[in-house]
Amino acid sequence: YWEVDTKYPKDLPSREVLFDFHGVPMIHSFSANWEKIQNFQARPDDILIATYPKAGTTWVSYILDLLYFGKTSPERQTSIPLYERVPFLEITISSTDSAERLTTSPRLIKTHLPVQLVPKSFWEQNCKMIYVARNAKDNMVSYFHMDRMTLFHPDPGDWSSYFKRFLEGNILFGSWYDHVNSWWKKKQTHDKIHYIIYHILFLGFLGYSEKLCCFLGLSSSLEERKQITGGVQFDNMKKNNMVNYSTLQVMDFKVSQFMRKGKVGDWKNHFTVAQNEEFDENYKQKMKNSTLQFRYEV
Ligand code: A3P
Repeated sequence: YWEVDTKYPKDLPSREVLFDFHGVPMIHSFSANWEKIQNFQARPDDILIATYPKAGTTWVSYILDLLYFGKTSPERQTSIPLYERVPFLEITISSTDSAERLTTSPRLIKTHLPVQLVPKSFWEQNCKMIYVARNAKDNMVSYFHMDRMTLFHPDPGDWSSYFKRFLEGNILFGSWYDHVNSWWKKKQTHDKIHYIIYHILFLGFLGYSEKLCCFLGLSSSLEERKQITGGVQFDNMKKNNMVNYSTLQVMDFKVSQFMRKGKVGDWKNHFTVAQNEEFDENYKQKMKNSTLQFRYEV
């Protein structure tokens, strides 16, 4: 295991400013070590968890960590924060030698990169990838609160200006529409990508778990999967300091929570009627060629 780095990232800047990075709005913290990111040497059994921010990365990371290591390394669950167990390619792995210190097999790695920026060795090594997508309305609300509480993220401004910038794709990691669609398109020709939609997990991990294990080539028993189901429920994750990010210095938990609501449909508490109409109209245009289907309530 590696040591927990309590100053993460080092020399934390105050709120950063977005700039264009290969056509994607980006900040320095996530691109400073670009050469190292691009030259990352993936191993064939690495598993990449890819998402647009706030789509359920932590949830799926925890599920995978439990599926692979819950039984064999129970101490991992109580002594190592999830962000160390499933390091973030753009920061942790690129700014330290943490990949070398990750001794598990498989290594679980997370990224928010759009598909075209994923380091080439993940493709060359034919690694399995899990992409998680969440309906754009809830994703937007969750991201707004995340940007408010994360001290080095660009200032989100007020809700109505954030709403507009989300539609324009002028936020960190760019357009939700481009992100979910280009990963979906890639999946059509690449059988190592498993595409999960948040609301399907929300309807029940247990029901979904067989499909996920089948993709991963895992033979966990129903009993094991039942045990995991309890641990990965929102309320339990919220209480669990090893997964709720409370050990991280870069978030202001007085502003919002990382494990905030964990719902499908919280957008209704934020969108005005006019914003909802504008969103739907814009969505129709942007998604007219997409076969992706999302639910906005359950
Ligand atoms: P909310 O802000 O809507 O509550 P990410 O991990 O990609 O940053 O995504 C975080 C979002 O996923 C948060 O959404 C968080 O509450 C939600 N989430 C995390 N674990 C969850 C769980 N077990 N069940 C439902 N939602 C979960």
